[in-house]
Amino acid sequence: MQIKNTKEKFGLITKLFHWSIAISIIALIWLGWYMVDLTYYDKWYNKSLTWHKSLGMLVLGAALLKIGWQLHSPAPDTTKALKKWERMSAYLMHKLLLAMMILIPFTGYLISTSNGKVVDIFGWFEIPALISKNREIRDIAIEIHFYTAYATAIFIIGHVAAALKHQFINKDSTLTKMLWR
Ligand code: HEM
Repeated sequence: MQIKNTKEKFGLITKLFHWSIAISIIALIWLGWYMVDLTYYDKWYNKSLTWHKSLGMLVLGAALLKIGWQLHSPAPDTTKALKKWERMSAYLMHKLLLAMMILIPFTGYLISTSNGKVVDIFGWFEIPALISKNREIRDIAIEIHFYTAYATAIFIIGHVAAALKHQFINKDSTLTKMLWR
């Protein structure tokens, strides 16, 4: 399998970014939803938040690298055969998902550091706070984090539905291009 994208196919690096970020975001939405209802006395209270923050910051790093890689190795033009509105909505959905990969973890980072504390990544290393204690930023970041995360769950359902439509209704290679072949 080739490392870079070609005009017809996605390469290994793009596939690794796609699937690792996709699985992580789905896991993070579930983990976020699960952990906010835990109480201080629950044994997963601290662990789930540490995992959520650590994995979330890794997604932020991976998303930035993914954007850099995409600029270096552009995606194949898989949309040539599509109608204009399909091309447009695919383009918008992909850009929206990319924006969410940055905005959600960044607002998570702001929530966590708005008390002036660092973010500890699985005990491996720390990411310093950019801001000092700030209640207003915390409240706004919590709102944005909440709405963008659950809206992204809906975007993902739309994205998956479109991929399945291509696979089973249009019977073209849109989905298989992103698989391990
Ligand atoms: C793509 C990455 C991420 C996704 C999809 C995500 C998703 C979520 C979701 C669904 C919730 C539950 C919201 C609720 O029901 O109230 C949540 C809460 C939370 N997340 Fe994230 N998150 C991500 C990254 C991060 C990062 C990087 C951090 C911190 C470094 C973080 C910190 C938090 C905190 C502190 C809460 C609890 C907020 C509260 O007290 O209401 N998240 N996240």
